[in-house]
Amino acid sequence: MALASSLAALSLATVADSSAVETKTVVFKPKTAKTAVPVPVLLFALQSTETPSNVLAKAAAVKEPRVAKEDLVVEFFKVSPKEVSIANLDKSLAGKIKIVLDSQIANADDELVLSLVTESGAAALKASTAVEYLKSTGIETVVVDFAAEAAALASGSSKKNSAKKDAKKDAALEDAKLIGITVDKAKDFSSWYSQVVTKGEMLDYYDVSGCYILRPNSYAVWETIQDWFNVHIKKMGVQNSYFPMFVSQRVLEKEKDHIEGFAPEVAWVTRAGNSELDEHIAIRPTSETVMYPYYSKWIRSHRDLPLKLNQWNSVVRWEFKHPQPFLRTREFLWQEGHTAHLTKEEAAKEVDEILDLYARIYEELLAVPVVKGKKTENEKFAGGDYTTTVEGFIAATGRGIQGATSHHLGTNFSKMFNISVENPDGADKPRVFAFQNSWGLSTRVIGVMVMTHSDNKGLVLPPRVAQTQAVVIPVGLTSKTTDEQRKAINDGAADIEARLKAVDVRAIGDYRDIYTPGWKFAEWELKGVPLRIEFGPKDLSSEQATVVRRDNGAKYTVKLAELETRIPEILEEMQKGLLEKARNDFNEHRIVVEDWKDFVPTLNSKNVIVSPWCGDSECEDDIKDSSATKDDGEEEEVDEKAPSMGAKSLCIPKEQPELKPGQKCVKCDKPAITYCMFGRSY
Ligand SMILES: *[C@@H]1O[C@H](CO)[C@@H](O)[C@H](O)[C@H]1NC(C)=O
Ligand SMILES: *[C@@H]1O[C@H](CO)[C@@H](O)[C@H](O)[C@H]1NC(C)=O
Ligand SMILES: [Zn+2]
Repeated sequence: MALASSLAALSLATVADSSAVETKTVVFKPKTAKTAVPVPVLLFALQSTETPSNVLAKAAAVKEPRVAKEDLVVEFFKVSPKEVSIANLDKSLAGKIKIVLDSQIANADDELVLSLVTESGAAALKASTAVEYLKSTGIETVVVDFAAEAAALASGSSKKNSAKKDAKKDAALEDAKLIGITVDKAKDFSSWYSQVVTKGEMLDYYDVSGCYILRPNSYAVWETIQDWFNVHIKKMGVQNSYFPMFVSQRVLEKEKDHIEGFAPEVAWVTRAGNSELDEHIAIRPTSETVMYPYYSKWIRSHRDLPLKLNQWNSVVRWEFKHPQPFLRTREFLWQEGHTAHLTKEEAAKEVDEILDLYARIYEELLAVPVVKGKKTENEKFAGGDYTTTVEGFIAATGRGIQGATSHHLGTNFSKMFNISVENPDGADKPRVFAFQNSWGLSTRVIGVMVMTHSDNKGLVLPPRVAQTQAVVIPVGLTSKTTDEQRKAINDGAADIEARLKAVDVRAIGDYRDIYTPGWKFAEWELKGVPLRIEFGPKDLSSEQATVVRRDNGAKYTVKLAELETRIPEILEEMQKGLLEKARNDFNEHRIVVEDWKDFVPTLNSKNVIVSPWCGDSECEDDIKDSSATKDDGEEEEVDEKAPSMGAKSLCIPKEQPELKPGQKCVKCDKPAITYCMFGRSY
């Protein structure tokens, strides 16, 4: 029923008021066991109220609420998500759904008029009328002050949970300086992470939730990756290009399986200035459907194959999960490669080659070890044939993290978009559909790198991607230092800087005399500069410099005569050291488990698990459900949500332990067909 008639049917008095305040009505489906009947949560809030899903989850006492799919909304409210409003609520829903009501509406004064807008119409009514009506339905209603709750969650001081508050206090670093990191990575990882990325000047928060500013310190990492990757893909014959960010609804929805995976997160442009657009326009969540109509147009004969295009762009996925810098952001930068081939073999070969490049970006540039593998059917890219992946590991939390994916799409898209060529065996034979791939790596890599190497002093940047690789700092200058000596030291430091730059070491000098050397050390450590080069009176007289590594504090005395060779060597040693340490961590925490009884305990000790598995999707779901710890209220960890989360399959590793004859699946009684890596993940 359309909005106006629904309101009339309920004899809800509407008013004419052009200053009515916009509202939003959204239905969420909390996570439930498969067999349980879902209890949807209907959110009714002012449009301007930020309603993060973690606050919603806590208020409504539900797990992982997600925007409900169309069928569920229709089942409960008898209208589509675009039509749902409070006018679709009545007594018959009491006991079947919950309402979360914005306190700004519940506690509004008499004057406030709300605007309800659905696809079929708009109406205005007094807030008090709306609230009265909600009461009259008898549906369980929770009133939430979103701003206050969000602040409480952010500061970790949920009133109920004073133990947690103490833990936060505990996590405070004793000798923390004000400019530095004030929490312990080992004790409060998420606060530590947000401090490291902001104080290390990697990014800044922005006033649109889930969006962040990439500052030069992180953008430089991205540029290094771009430069490296461009060289390698161009050798493979890939060309860069750019497609528009807008996509029409008709085109976006062309490939059904594919779009279903993205639908709840697509952001739409519905208005230009004050006029509603006739056809709403989506912002790409990925570009398959944007690009492929043109592949169809450009590929006419087998001589047009292969077609290999890549673009460096941003995509938008309007997620409602708790955002996290670099890892889960509503807009992110990535590259997406899209290629079309005459044969499956040629396409499959490219999928592997790209995956190797991704692994090398992680290992050779970012010093982050990864495991290469294939996604299970459950976890693969929707609409594709198979997905390969590189999977990383965050030792501090014991969670896996997807690094980048390279998909073989088979011919599903080429059939949908008619990307076809004449059969090389003759024009009378059926046309041949192209075999396609798509592959992407995003700025999430930067987050993985930060989480892996950084410490309680701040960022640790691997030398190969660091914007600044070495900072030269004059030391040992006191009030007794003569002007002549001061000049000699400052000049000496500047000379070191210049000589390093001349051999392409990215060096800078910090000659500010308003700060002490100690203050400068802390600042550059916070920003993650790999080497600090101290130059003082003793260095001057011995024609040397003192070099300190950011990652382990190791000190080196370097003869000035050997500067040009030694500094690059020490940078490379550090680069190797970082990878080795991270690789040891990953190896130690990737554990083969064959018995289910060991599975959850191993998982809970911050490990990922490699287990024999039957390959069955339902068994995979069962593993996920059975490894989620039961909700005992103790470990309600909202933004980390780690302990309550089940183990997902991360990948079927390319390098497999050998299956024993008769080996059973770790979870069910079926024979194992492969080892699979499972873990809690980001
Ligand atoms: C691809 O197409 C085939 C046949 O049309 C279909 O069986 C398969 O499910 C499709 N794959 C995906 C992932 O949609
Ligand atoms: C696909 O494109 C080719 C070449 O233009 C055309 O001959 C063929 O009829 C098209 N197939 C479909 C199903 O549209
Ligand atoms: Zn099984």
